[in-house]
Amino acid sequence: MTPEVEWPPLVDKFGRVHRDMRISLTDRCSLRCTYCMPAEGVPWLAGSSMLSADEMVRAATVAVQLGITKIRLTGGEPLLHPDVVTIVSKLTKLTGPSGPIEVSLTTNGLRLPALAAPLKDAGLSRVNISIDTLDRERYQAITRRDRLTDVIAGMAAADAAGLHPVKLNAVAMRGINDHEVVNLVTFALDHGYHMRFIEQMPLDPGHTWDRSQMVTQEEILASLREVYELTPEPGRGAMPAENFLINGGPAKVGIIASVTAPFCGSCDRLRLTADGQLRACLFSETETDIRDLLRADADDAALAEAFRTCIAGKKAGHGIGEPTFVQPSRPMSAIGG
Ligand code: 5AD
Ligand code: SF4
Repeated sequence: MTPEVEWPPLVDKFGRVHRDMRISLTDRCSLRCTYCMPAEGVPWLAGSSMLSADEMVRAATVAVQLGITKIRLTGGEPLLHPDVVTIVSKLTKLTGPSGPIEVSLTTNGLRLPALAAPLKDAGLSRVNISIDTLDRERYQAITRRDRLTDVIAGMAAADAAGLHPVKLNAVAMRGINDHEVVNLVTFALDHGYHMRFIEQMPLDPGHTWDRSQMVTQEEILASLREVYELTPEPGRGAMPAENFLINGGPAKVGIIASVTAPFCGSCDRLRLTADGQLRACLFSETETDIRDLLRADADDAALAEAFRTCIAGKKAGHGIGEPTFVQPSRPMSAIGG
C-alpha cells in the first residue's frame, strides 16, 4: 500500500504542517466526569456507524503516508475497546516517510492494571492518565464513580510496564480541585510521574462553562509557586503543555493553557472520531467523512484527498471568547480528548 511517490505533507492555509493524529477508539466510558458527560451518559454512537479496527488502521496507514508521525488513541475511554492491544500493535508497525511513528494513549487509567504490560509489548510508548483529585470522595463527585484506588493502581501498572514518562492530567476546576494543585504535584513527584494541569475548555454537557469562573494558568502557577520554584523549560515547539522545571529540575510540571494562552498557531493535530469523521480541531464546526470511503473500497489517493479537504478547512484558532464562538455539538467523549 506504500505509494511509489512520497505524498506532500498535510499543510493548511496558515502553513501548519500536521504531524499528530488523535484517534478516538470509542465514545463509551467507564466514568461520567461532570465536565464531559451528564450522569446518564450521552446517546452512544451506533455500532454500525463505528469504524472497525481494520478501518481505523487503514485510515492511519494513509495518514502516516501523509507525514503523521504521532498517533494518540483517545475516547471516551480507549481501553474499553476490545481490540485496543491489536490496534496498537498494528499502528506501531507503520512507517512513514521519516521512519517509525510513535503511538501513545490518553486514558482514565482504570483498565491499566490488566492492559499496561500487553500494551507495552504491543509497542505503545506512553500513557496520559486523567486524575483530577487524590481525595476519594471528591473523585467520586467528579467522575460519579468510586474508582480512585483503581486509577492509582493503573498508574503503578503503567510505570511498572515501562510506559514512561507516566503523565497525569488534571482539569483545574474552581472550588472543586483548585486547592489540590500542590498535592497533585507532590504526589507525582513522589512517584516519578509528570503532572499536567489543563485549563477547562467549553466542552461540558450543560454548557455552563464560564470564562470568568475558569481556573487560569496564572492562578495554577501562583499556587504552585507558594511551594516550588518554577522556571519555564525552553523549547516548547508544537506541544500544548508549557513545562516548568520544579526547583531547577529535572522534575517538571506542565500547564495546558488552552484558553488563556492558546497554542493554535503551532497546532499540528487532527482528529478521527470513532465513527469515521475527520476533524481539524476539537472545536471544528465541520467534519470530513472517511467512513463511506473506507466502506466503498476507495483507494489510498481518495482517502488522502479527504485528509487534505479536512486540513484545508482548518481555522486559525478555536476562537473561545470570541462572539462567534459556538461549542461543538458533539460531546467531548465523541470527539476524543
Ligand atoms: N476541558 C479540558 N480538558 C478536558 N478533558 C475532558 N474535558 C475537558 C474540558 N472541558 C480532558 C480530560 C482528559 C482528556 C481526555 O481530556 O481530563 O485528561
Ligand atoms: Fe470518561 Fe474522559 Fe469523559 Fe471522564 S473526561 S467521562 S474519563 S471520556
